[in-house]
Amino acid sequence: MRAIVMREFGGPDVLRLEDVPEPEPRGGHTLVDVTLAGINYADVHVRGDSYLAPVELPYIPGNEVVGTTDGGRRVVGLSRGGGYAERALLHRRVTWDVPDAVTDAQAVALALQGNSAWHLLFTALRVTEGETVVVPAAAGGVGSLAVQLAARAGAKVIGLAGSAEKRELAQDLGAHAVVDSTAHDLTERILDAAGGPVQTALEMTGGATFARTLAAVAPCGRLAVYGFAGGELASVSTRDLMERSITVSGFWLPQLYADRTALPTSMRALFDAVGDGSLKPLTGTTYALGNAARAHHDLAARTPTGKLALDVAR
Ligand SMILES: NC(=O)c1ccc[n+]([C@@H]2O[C@H](COP(=O)([O-])OP(=O)(O)OC[C@H]3O[C@@H](n4cnc5c(N)ncnc54)[C@H](OP(=O)(O)O)[C@@H]3O)[C@@H](O)[C@H]2O)c1
Repeated sequence: MRAIVMREFGGPDVLRLEDVPEPEPRGGHTLVDVTLAGINYADVHVRGDSYLAPVELPYIPGNEVVGTTDGGRRVVGLSRGGGYAERALLHRRVTWDVPDAVTDAQAVALALQGNSAWHLLFTALRVTEGETVVVPAAAGGVGSLAVQLAARAGAKVIGLAGSAEKRELAQDLGAHAVVDSTAHDLTERILDAAGGPVQTALEMTGGATFARTLAAVAPCGRLAVYGFAGGELASVSTRDLMERSITVSGFWLPQLYADRTALPTSMRALFDAVGDGSLKPLTGTTYALGNAARAHHDLAARTPTGKLALDVAR
């Protein structure tokens, strides 16, 4: 089968198209013919050998696909690698039948980014109606879904995004106010946009952006950290947390894979919301399988919006 194989860590050009053997069937797993392979920012970390879970080379990246089982079911599912390929092995516990009302392009946005957005907002932050929430990369994969889910729950969303076009998109998705994510005075801009300190915030850039976002959180507020796209992990002063009674929580979706209710519950809610039109996954560029390196170039350049995917038939 055709697959993108990484034989070394490094820049996008380490992602090369090769002919490799199909994955061996394994107990508890389902083999699928891949239609679309989801691209996630985590894949950039994997390629650069900076991901939370180190991988061994050679390695086929990609942690989610939508495709068809040998029995003809249309499914979307999560995996630990192996997604950028014509055939992929999905663990049954994190594989779901896709309802007719949900397209392949929508489904592939929901498994990893949709479930992450859902549990960040409602499990980690426990955002409630009327609260203000900061959502970074608000026109990106996780962010564009988080903006919509938070607004739908009655929260006031302050969306951060790196370009005027992305900020406009975030407002169209339901953000009440938008802020330039690259601003050095990010804290003041969030305070201005929110009309004061915020009750809750998501943070995925790390480094100075983490500190600037945390500084905008109100006493007794909550911040959930789920990434370090800027490449620099942040440190937090426990004195600051004590003084302002702030809760900082961490989040990594794979910690929920073994939970028998968390992902089935959120997946059902996400499918239903797409089905009734109250959640509209933002479909970004779909690249040919052999163009995975181009997709990674674009991700690192911060230009894409919405869900990026690889069309393995192209
Ligand atoms: N912990 C988890 O379980 C989990 C699950 C899913 C995703 N994540 C994390 O969530 C974040 C978003 O993931 P995604 O797949 O949805 O990607 P994405 O948001 O579609 O793309 C990444 C976005 O991050 C922003 N960004 C900020 N600093 C950046 C930098 N130095 N370089 C590149 N981009 C930067 C950019 O938006 P602007 O230019 O608009 O700022 C960029 O478009 C990533 O940090 C990812 O690792 C974590």
